Amino acid sequence: MLSLAEMAVAVLTTADGRAKAALSHQHAASWRAARAAGAPLAIGQAAPPLRPARPDKPDLLDPREVPRRRPGSAQGRVALLHAVAHIELNAVDLHWDIIARFTDTPMPLGFYDDWVQAADDESKHFNLLCDCLEAMGSHYGALPAHAFMWQAAEDTAADLLGRLAVVPMVLEARGLDVTPGMIALFQQAKETQALAALNTIYAEEVAHVAYGSKWFNWLCGRAGDDPKEVFHHLVRKYFHGNLKPPFNAEKRAEAGLPPDFYWPLVEQA
Ligand SMILES: [Fe+2]
Ligand SMILES: [Fe+2]
Repeated sequence: MLSLAEMAVAVLTTADGRAKAALSHQHAASWRAARAAGAPLAIGQAAPPLRPARPDKPDLLDPREVPRRRPGSAQGRVALLHAVAHIELNAVDLHWDIIARFTDTPMPLGFYDDWVQAADDESKHFNLLCDCLEAMGSHYGALPAHAFMWQAAEDTAADLLGRLAVVPMVLEARGLDVTPGMIALFQQAKETQALAALNTIYAEEVAHVAYGSKWFNWLCGRAGDDPKEVFHHLVRKYFHGNLKPPFNAEKRAEAGLPPDFYWPLVEQA
């Protein structure tokens, strides 16, 4: 039986998107089954790659070079779903990476339960979006995608608190801010399949942000540090740019992110 860290590396080193998602789901199911049987899998140790394997397509471009399409057009909606699919595939890797990369830091099993669940959710989200793209006559890989999506993971590869601050508590929280606008757009266009996919994603992403703030606070508490101050320091250290309002205060609160965590980061030098 593979250890959890070995399972994570197996997902990270699988290039094809659908295959990566399938393996992510399979390994998550094995972890949950062993937990339910009262015989948890070993966490183990493994060497995650600095960058995960990715398919040949999409071509990865500097975001400034990714062509913009009007969101009101059918083409624009395909481009938007393609961009979200790319984010979801990256998220599958991000959650397995946090599992494999920080095994030197002893954590309760609940930490692994949470990120296994998040990784499994992301594989479902990726599949849902691929299904939508295919139903619209496109597919993941048909358009160019954002090249620097993994940057935050590389920047925080040696800092678990930094990873939690930047990935779930900044980037995934940003998803909570922007998803309602996307939902409105697909509602207006009466694209029911994409609407259902985005509603599922929106409902499940709250938990990922909540896992981030839960374990961030837990680690700060174990060290006797003030989580808000540590958060501000680490976001300024690792996140390039300001946080952008408007914020989804309600969903952020539900995920354990109070305003005094994010508002002071709107204007940083
Ligand atoms: Fe997701
Ligand atoms: Fe997520």
